Amino acid sequence: MARAALDPKTANVLYHDAAAASYDAKWAISFDPPAQAYVRERAERMLARSRYDRVLEIGAGTGFFILNLWQTGFVGEAHATDISEGMLEVCRANAERLGCGVQTRSADAERLPYEDETFDLVAGHAFLHHIPDPPAALAEMWRVLRPGGAIFIAGEPTLWGDRMAGVVKVATRESFRLAARLPGVRIGRDSPPPVSEEDRAMHDLEFDVDLHTFAPSEVRAWARDAGFDEVRIETEELIASMFGWAVRTLEAEVRPGLLGKRWARFAYRAWRSLYRIDDALRGVVPSGLFYNLLLYAEKPRR
Ligand SMILES: C[S@@+](CC[C@H](N)C(=O)[O-])C[C@H]1O[C@@H](n2cnc3c(N)ncnc32)[C@H](O)[C@@H]1O
Repeated sequence: MARAALDPKTANVLYHDAAAASYDAKWAISFDPPAQAYVRERAERMLARSRYDRVLEIGAGTGFFILNLWQTGFVGEAHATDISEGMLEVCRANAERLGCGVQTRSADAERLPYEDETFDLVAGHAFLHHIPDPPAALAEMWRVLRPGGAIFIAGEPTLWGDRMAGVVKVATRESFRLAARLPGVRIGRDSPPPVSEEDRAMHDLEFDVDLHTFAPSEVRAWARDAGFDEVRIETEELIASMFGWAVRTLEAEVRPGLLGKRWARFAYRAWRSLYRIDDALRGVVPSGLFYNLLLYAEKPRR
């Protein structure tokens, strides 16, 4: 029987509260030098300054973006907000391990519990596509920013990047399953992994939490309508992101224990090399085809 879709905000709280404990392991989130390098490279590329006094991340999850920005020196005082208290609990634990005194508050991005003009930088990573009304979230970012402050958003899926990723996922899964059926080949699972009621509920919820993919031109227009200046949109990861989705799909299909640490090293190095090729393709391939969208914009000084 078809189930009715949940209100997306309730779905996001349920999904991310339940996902929080295993979120970092599932998405290979870390705070080690490669993770710091990933965040630093994007910050150096997009931000006008190398340090901001008071910084808020919206939809901060377990802290990947804000804590790595803090570790790489871009952040003075770190604040994190998220609609899921479960994710913020993990964020606080991660921050404590790193020695970062992050201040957290659970809140909806469309109604932030902060005074006007509180922050020098408002950041976000992979959160805007979960928000029912992205322009409302941008308006809130604008409100809590000091004049002369900036917003920095990264890791949002583009319309075409997401479509191509969908094709890659299906093609990888079907090719893998065909190969796994060949005689003498033992790469697939002997039996499908057990699916608990909880797994099933989480799988259903996934359809209710991912709400948008973005065309660069529409995000630019929203930022300008919210009152921002110096709006800059960039996109990144073309072949690298398709490779990344193929790797994740394959890892979900393969017999447990078959891929070891050498595989993880190979996948990371290959992704880095492909990322460099993608970098060379920027300006040659239409920007809307790249998977990830980044946005930088400033609130004008009075
Ligand atoms: C894909 S996760 C990204 C987390 C983190 N920024 C990262 O990059 O790892 C999206 C996050 O957005 C949060 N979120 C979803 N809807 C939200 C809303 N309406 N307001 C604030 N946060 C929201 C989720 O709880 C989740 O932690």
